[in-house]
Amino acid sequence: MANTLGIIKPDGMRRKLAGRIIDKVERAGLIIRGTKVLWLDRERAEKFYAVHQGKPFYKSLVEFMTSGPIMVLVLGGHGAIERWRELMGHTDPAKAKYNTIRREFGTSIEKNVVHGSDSETTAKVEVAFFFREDEILPKE
Ligand code: CMP
Repeated sequence: MANTLGIIKPDGMRRKLAGRIIDKVERAGLIIRGTKVLWLDRERAEKFYAVHQGKPFYKSLVEFMTSGPIMVLVLGGHGAIERWRELMGHTDPAKAKYNTIRREFGTSIEKNVVHGSDSETTAKVEVAFFFREDEILPKE
């Protein structure tokens, strides 16, 4: 019953896709245990994406992620990490399956609308990056 982190990226917020994405989250049976809207500054975005430091897309990724507000979500329920990843689809929207968020709304590998943690270890770190314990609903 591990929680995972979801992010609606600046392209999703700018294009007013938050409601449609949350609708998909709820229809998929994932539970929203926490959420907030915020605007990352460069230092925080660099820290969040530190694992990608040195990669060719890193600088552009940080610029994009600081280009506007984002919505961060703590998503729970059985198999939440894997289920949220399935709902998002492949990182590259062109390779994502039909009926996934990235396939439907993504416009490039960078502007792929949403982020999700890729493992239990990452999920713990990423949720804690944005949320204090008392900002997350307890598991039932
Ligand atoms: P995300 O799941 O947030 O994790 C890292 C992000 O880097 C990824 O989604 C993409 O939006 C972005 N990115 C940009 N270019 C690439 C690339 N060539 N390969 C992988 N990720 C990329």
